[in-house]
Amino acid sequence: MIRKALYPGTFDPLTYGHLDLIQRGLRLFDQIVVAIANNPAKKPLFTVADRVDMIQVATKGLSGVEVVAFDGLLVRLAKAADVQAIIRGLRAVSDFEYELQMALINRKLSPEIETVFMIPAGKHSYLSSSIVREVASLGGCIKGFVPEYIETKLKEKLRTVKTDINLNKSGS
Ligand code: COA
Repeated sequence: MIRKALYPGTFDPLTYGHLDLIQRGLRLFDQIVVAIANNPAKKPLFTVADRVDMIQVATKGLSGVEVVAFDGLLVRLAKAADVQAIIRGLRAVSDFEYELQMALINRKLSPEIETVFMIPAGKHSYLSSSIVREVASLGGCIKGFVPEYIETKLKEKLRTVKTDINLNKSGS
């Protein structure tokens, strides 16, 4: 039997913390489906297509990784993708309450799918996508937070956003 898991998130953008979790997940599962939530409520900086591209590039050297985008219920995707488990990361105790609630609601909706919690390397435990975006937007160095390709894409994106804001200001 092929052991397959879903690793969902917004990944706006993927960080080394996420990548670390994917690599750890591959020790337990033959295949990992990285599932990018469209998540308009979070107002992502990157489009879903950008996020798919960045994760595909970041995981190119890893066999058994598939990248998909999804809308709607996570457990619906989990069933459609025929996975046995959902992987979630616990960076600190503060993650636990939200993760517990999510795992329990997902179990209620789909009892046959297990949630597996994994702990990323301590050196990545302070990372989050929004903190990386914030540091980059304020001109800070994000080397060591995200893979090089994502660093380039993030800088490009922030330049575009700034240009758009300036154009809108001068037009108003
Ligand atoms: N390394 C670095 N950062 C990490 C991390 C790790 N290992 N693990 C989590 N994070 C960060 C993320 O970057 C994110 O940062 P941000 O808030 O600054 O963007 C933050 O922790 C939260 O990430 P995550 O827990 O993955 O949440 P999410 O919002 O990215 O994804 C979904 C949540 C998409 C999995 C969840 O909303 C979902 O399942 N949605 C589908 C709808 C559904 O089924 N709902 C019912 C069940 S809840």
